[in-house]
Amino acid sequence: MPDHERHPFLHGLSKHRGAPPTVVVIFGASGDLTARKLIPAIYNLALDGLLPADFHLIGYGRKAIPDEEFQRDAAAAIREFSRRELKDEIWAGLAPRTLYVSGGYDELAAFERLAARIAGLEKRVGQELQTLFYVSTPPSVFAPIIRNLGASGLASRYVGQPHQSKVIIEKPFGKDLASARELNRVITSVFAESQVFRIDHYLGKETVQDLLVQRFANAIFEPLWNRNFVDHVQITVAEEVGVGTRAGYYEQSGALRDMIQNHTMQLLALTAMEPPVSLDAESIRDEKVKLLQAIQPLRLDGAASDVARAQYTAGLLGGKPVPGYMQEPDVAADSSTETFAALRLQINNWRWHGVPFYLRSGKRMARRVTEIAVRFKRAPGNLFADSDRFQLAANTLAFQIQPDEGMSMILNAKIPGLETRTQPVKMNFRYATTFGSNTPEAYERLVLDAMIGDGTLFIRGDETERSWQLVTPILEHWKQEKRAGLDAYSAGSWGPKSAADLLAAHGHVWREP
Ligand code: BG6
Repeated sequence: MPDHERHPFLHGLSKHRGAPPTVVVIFGASGDLTARKLIPAIYNLALDGLLPADFHLIGYGRKAIPDEEFQRDAAAAIREFSRRELKDEIWAGLAPRTLYVSGGYDELAAFERLAARIAGLEKRVGQELQTLFYVSTPPSVFAPIIRNLGASGLASRYVGQPHQSKVIIEKPFGKDLASARELNRVITSVFAESQVFRIDHYLGKETVQDLLVQRFANAIFEPLWNRNFVDHVQITVAEEVGVGTRAGYYEQSGALRDMIQNHTMQLLALTAMEPPVSLDAESIRDEKVKLLQAIQPLRLDGAASDVARAQYTAGLLGGKPVPGYMQEPDVAADSSTETFAALRLQINNWRWHGVPFYLRSGKRMARRVTEIAVRFKRAPGNLFADSDRFQLAANTLAFQIQPDEGMSMILNAKIPGLETRTQPVKMNFRYATTFGSNTPEAYERLVLDAMIGDGTLFIRGDETERSWQLVTPILEHWKQEKRAGLDAYSAGSWGPKSAADLLAAHGHVWREP
């Protein structure tokens, strides 16, 4: 029996997790995300008995195909991408409830056909069904889909009741502050905020959820979690993958939009926000917004600049040569798209005044790792050495978000022996060791939460706008600079010199996680 099941002091934090009878409609049914993440997530929820009674899935796409073909594609996606194998008896229950509707995204008549099909399902099962629309298309058709959900009446089904229509919006949510505001305007002209679920899949990761538990279920951290004890914080989201075949998207995006504005800022907000008054969605999101509001505008010019950006050049990854960004397919000859970005942030509130927060994210870095490292101030002097020249190591608490999920703490310990000599040691906790390794994927949790109507792990409209407000001046500055000021780093390294300089200015260095 795993440890946690034996433990007499287990406390369940979760509420009752029953979803009402639901039809999930995926716009962008033939897309990559649908096959890799959404269908496997729904299958795994079925396997765990977490789908509501009378659950149906409708794929919606431009391609005209019969239900059976969509069912075959779905089964193939589960075989290829699910974390657990396709079990015939589970699929036999789900397959007949997996349907398909074809139509354009700006074609109202097709949305009316969709509405008629849903009404037909309701009639057949003899009860009202919640509709959850998952917008997983390219962003150019987000607005027409939302408008047609409004015009066809699909958006206003059972409004004001727990099983009111809901909509999940995939990323990218805008490309700057103006476009994010405009998208919010379109969405809120059709849906109430309580119906809207803006995805950031990092919030669905187990370890990201555990951040809140670590911070607020353990009394030892809170007294230290401030400028009196914390020296600085480093958040790293490093990927080994390059841009691959995604240059068409990535050239318009870059690391700041793709990773920093959303995922990395969310990690920052959860790490640094004040304790919420309760665990409900609004309390947590209020605290995140307050934290984002306290971040000071960044300096963009000159030696004191708080930002760095770079592109990877050819290098070695895992001993194998890989090309540079400029040699990847579909990258413009004069591309100034950054594949790495780093920021130095100051949070101007009582808790964090004067504590630098460093954020970095890049593709083709030395190792895939996402980590939040809280570096505490050193013990004063060094009782254990003849001279203060030999500094004790600073204590560091690191949350390893992925892979090899866990937490570690660097402490100073006595090296066994007759002399008193110290050495930094690492205290380690690994989720896989304690809990086993088959944890749910982010999308399983997020789809279930949206079906239940729990927005805690989704981004509120004001939150996304505040985050865009912070990064938009940087984007504009880089656009003007073009390639001037764009640094380089070898694929397989930990990033460019300019990122190291951001820390060096304060006497800090990046950890090698
Ligand atoms: C996506 C980005 O949001 O996150 C990708 O668009 C990136 O570029 C991906 O690779 C990383 O997600 P994960 O869950 O693999 O860390």
